[in-house]
Amino acid sequence: MEYKFCGNSGLQLPKISLGLWHNFGSVDDFENATAMILHAWENGVTHFDLANNYGPIPGSAETNFGRIFKEHLSSHRDEMLVSSKAGHDMWPGPYGDGSSRKNLIASCNQSLKRTGLEYFDIFYSHRYDGVTPVEETMQALIDIVHQGKALYVGISKYPPALQQKCYDILADAHVPCLISQYPYSMFNRQIETDTIEIAAKNGSGFICFSPLAQGLLTEKYLKGIPQNSRAAKSTGFLQVDEVTPERVEAARKLKEIAEKRGQTLPQMALAWILRDKRITSVIVGASSVKQLDNNLHALDNLTFTDDDLAEIEVILKDPALQMHKV
Ligand SMILES: NC(=O)c1ccc[n+]([C@@H]2O[C@H](COP(=O)([O-])OP(=O)(O)OC[C@H]3O[C@@H](n4cnc5c(N)ncnc54)[C@H](OP(=O)(O)O)[C@@H]3O)[C@@H](O)[C@H]2O)c1
Repeated sequence: MEYKFCGNSGLQLPKISLGLWHNFGSVDDFENATAMILHAWENGVTHFDLANNYGPIPGSAETNFGRIFKEHLSSHRDEMLVSSKAGHDMWPGPYGDGSSRKNLIASCNQSLKRTGLEYFDIFYSHRYDGVTPVEETMQALIDIVHQGKALYVGISKYPPALQQKCYDILADAHVPCLISQYPYSMFNRQIETDTIEIAAKNGSGFICFSPLAQGLLTEKYLKGIPQNSRAAKSTGFLQVDEVTPERVEAARKLKEIAEKRGQTLPQMALAWILRDKRITSVIVGASSVKQLDNNLHALDNLTFTDDDLAEIEVILKDPALQMHKV
């Protein structure tokens, strides 16, 4: 594994982190979830990305992570980073959703209980809810750090127009924004226009989620929608109508470039993200140890020639490939 300093901080993240959004919930195979976490850990993945609502059922990914941690990894707490977030719908009533101080503080307490951890390494505001003043949300993050419940804080999916305000409030309180988490992949390039540069200018690290476009940037959908794939599952976030002929055809062409580089398509898709030096880490998801292992080997070739990049751009220039939903 290679590690990289996160923005202007002294904290290093693995270039590949593991996310527990899908496949680690109570509906999933616990032995498989355990095997993936242990495989990640044994291969230097020191960073595990959670959120209060990951499951299904919501909360169960944190509970399962806590159980796996307790059984296998508890002696390694100081060698790893565990992140969680609050801001999406989690419990009934007006306080279980959004970016209020009430929601963030209560969520953080609940997440610590579920995981059995004493603190999170990184705690995020999962989203801007469109209503809560960012002053209120950022103050909740600052207080979570002051209470010893998190070491660092981050923001996720905040619109570019609000990013600077978040960074300024956190910096003024001497709890700088360690990291900014946004979707980024060959099929979702929205952050290229402003978000990533605003983060870099402020010394915030940058971590990308859904780097494989939830599986579209793998070989999985080249021959239709397989059973048990995220698109096929009722609990999967990827919808069947997002598996468009254009995206499948682009994946087929990208796979040919990857093969010329001696890589699989997901390996090239991850390496392509990490080509940008402002990016600290990519958070991959996986449903098996085999997938995860394949993805970790992206690090074997992170170099692109100008010709590789130009060939990739030709394929990606079709705007119909882009998905900005998450
Ligand atoms: N901040 C936020 O709002 C936010 C939002 C979304 C995600 N995230 C974070 O980002 C993490 C990653 O997101 P993601 O799961 O969407 O990432 P992703 O890496 O784009 O997609 C993962 C899915 O792709 C498929 N896959 C992965 N490797 C494969 C391989 N080598 N071959 C074939 N298929 C492969 C698997 O799908 P199948 O299940 O079909 O096998 C896997 O579940 C999440 O777990 C979460 O921690 C954060």
